[in-house]
Amino acid sequence: MRMTARLIVALALAAGFVVAGSTYLQMRADRSRLLDDLRRRCAILAESIDTAIDPALSQRDRGRIEQFVERFGSSGGLDGLAIANNRGEALAATPGIGEKPIVSELGREAMLGDKPVARMIDLQGRQRYAYAVALHSDDGVVTGSLVVLQDTGYIQQRMRDVWRHNFFRLLIQVFLISLVTLWIVRWNVLAPMAQMAEWMKRLRAGELMEPSTLPRAELFGPMAKEVKTFARHLTVAKSAAEEEARLRQISESLWTPERLKDHVKTKLGGQPLVVVSNREPYMHRFKGREVEVIMPAGGVVTAMDPLMKACGGTWIAHGAGDADWEFVDQKNRVKVPPDDPQYTLRRVALTGEEEDGYYYGFSNEGLWPLCHVAHVRPDFRPDDWAFYQAANRKFADAVLDEIEGLESPCVLAQDYHFALLPRMIKEKRPDARVALFWHIPWPNPESFGICPWQTELLYGMLGADLVGFHTQYYCNNFLETVDRTLECRIDRERFSVIKEEHLTAVKPFPVSVHFAASPQGFSAAPADKPALLKELHSNAGILGIGVDRVDYTKGILERFRAVERLLDKYPAYRGRFTLVQIGAPSRTHIKRYNDFLAETEAEADRINWRFKASSWRPIVLLNRHHNHREILPYYKAADVCLVTSLSDGMNLVCKEFISARDDEEGALVLSRFAGASRELTDALIVNPYDIDQVAEAIRYAIEMPEEERRARMKRLRETVKENNIYRWAGNLITELTQIRFDAKTASAPPESPEV
Ligand code: F6P
Repeated sequence: MRMTARLIVALALAAGFVVAGSTYLQMRADRSRLLDDLRRRCAILAESIDTAIDPALSQRDRGRIEQFVERFGSSGGLDGLAIANNRGEALAATPGIGEKPIVSELGREAMLGDKPVARMIDLQGRQRYAYAVALHSDDGVVTGSLVVLQDTGYIQQRMRDVWRHNFFRLLIQVFLISLVTLWIVRWNVLAPMAQMAEWMKRLRAGELMEPSTLPRAELFGPMAKEVKTFARHLTVAKSAAEEEARLRQISESLWTPERLKDHVKTKLGGQPLVVVSNREPYMHRFKGREVEVIMPAGGVVTAMDPLMKACGGTWIAHGAGDADWEFVDQKNRVKVPPDDPQYTLRRVALTGEEEDGYYYGFSNEGLWPLCHVAHVRPDFRPDDWAFYQAANRKFADAVLDEIEGLESPCVLAQDYHFALLPRMIKEKRPDARVALFWHIPWPNPESFGICPWQTELLYGMLGADLVGFHTQYYCNNFLETVDRTLECRIDRERFSVIKEEHLTAVKPFPVSVHFAASPQGFSAAPADKPALLKELHSNAGILGIGVDRVDYTKGILERFRAVERLLDKYPAYRGRFTLVQIGAPSRTHIKRYNDFLAETEAEADRINWRFKASSWRPIVLLNRHHNHREILPYYKAADVCLVTSLSDGMNLVCKEFISARDDEEGALVLSRFAGASRELTDALIVNPYDIDQVAEAIRYAIEMPEEERRARMKRLRETVKENNIYRWAGNLITELTQIRFDAKTASAPPESPEV
């Protein structure tokens, strides 16, 4: 209230100064206009008196002059009149002024200069306007003087009126200003502040508050945003602390972001973590004239972003967004997440040609189909291979630049895009600890053997101190491939390869997701299944969900056909079951992917057409990028989640689904060809090529006794909770740092590949 009073007083003073200033100026202008007017009137009067009195003055007829003065002096508006001869002696005057020295002085002054003299004089305690002129005979000789007095009381009255009017105007203004100020302060400042304070108070008291209850006023918008972020951190920290306390009690040891942070700090001695991947975690894209930030779909981003948020450091990746370069500094760095910066993203620029050859060509038309057994023929083109090598060099240079000056830095390279990068780093920085994590399957040696550059790829990978895969099965395939391809020693007991005195450990690390009781920053409210389906114009009571990049390895067509089979075999599900397939278009510059996108649409259309009904569709295909916030309601509402990959390194969709099901409801149908099937044994494991089996699994998932469904989901949640992304990173870093300190093989590998 004191602040409001101060504000009002300040505004009233300001208004007072403005009104006083403008009143003063107005008065000056009015006064000078009125005096001009008076002067003009006096001049006209004097001229007419001069003409009329001339004969009497020339004849020195004092009687006529006195008569004249008597008649004119009492005429309206005049306050006095005096006539003197050319010696300045009063001849006649209205009563009371003839003997006044000031009057005769003015007359003399007018005769002396032979020009009118005007002045304000104080006479008998009143202000008057005196106007004196010299009188002339017909031949122009000065015969005397005339002094005319006018009352100026009306001018003073006018000035007082101006002051009075403006004073009342000021009072009204101050009143209105106070009202408006009170209103603005109350509704736009005090009320939102009180709302925010109440929100924070309730948050502190442990009540879960929806951010939508925060003030949205323009003034408080940025602050509300910061408060929301702060509250999110607080909630996370609080639940982490609670979780830690709970774990301490039951002497269990769960990996949390805080624990990983401490672990990384201890293991790396405070050095920043450096991650390199092709795909960037945050992409700036133009959307019309606006810029949007998206998190691309895919396992690397899902897994690595929570880890980087926990540990900080630098993530080096290809800047693939069309607005990416608007947001970086001179070193191509940007702090991310953009609305709550926690680590650094360093973007690497690639030309269109480089991207075509390295990413679309060698990585995704060569290595991707080579490693995934999905019966798509890999294409190996020498030009693509050249771009792959050059791009690995470019990213390696960015890494080397980033780790310059760091002692024994720790580099985590991600995926099949960077098979050559580990050796490139180690050649220049033998002291660096380099891990390469391969996020996709590793096939058997016969399959891998068709790659014309398999030796170079393996040699590049073995530059790393640690090569990680999702499963032991992929590790075994890799060791077998190395054994058959390169001259080296394989230590099968320690699962490592020694090549040119350099040891590379080969270990499984099943990648995972962040697991939280309630997904971070998102609503914990149960999803509204009927509303979701109604929005999609499908009135079904049972919801199946599939979430994938639109990729031929994901078994999307097989999934659709299994739904068709279910409806054929069990017509009771017609009108009752809908599969919502969220598909993020991916790598669409590659013809096989573009064709596949069209194939999924055509197959969904075909099946929907077969079972045509007015208010129900068996398959709802949503082929566009969806963010986590958009996907979460589907995970929460689904009766069954379908993961039917034909080949998949791990698959994190199934782990995200499990993590979202804090109600311990919902069932998972999972392909045996996804790495996750080794861990998630409580899912309904299927062969996606066996359409009938998948259809039966969907039916069983729906009809399963509630008790069994809950028991399975509970165990699945325990598994994902325990083996979360923080454990994955913790194990990887422990292993990597131990190898460096145990192996005593820190010597640099030779510059040229002796393969
Ligand atoms: O999970 C395998 C993977 O290749 C990841 O490396 C990548 O994040 C994801 O698939 C998506 O692919 P892309 O980055 O080519 O869109």
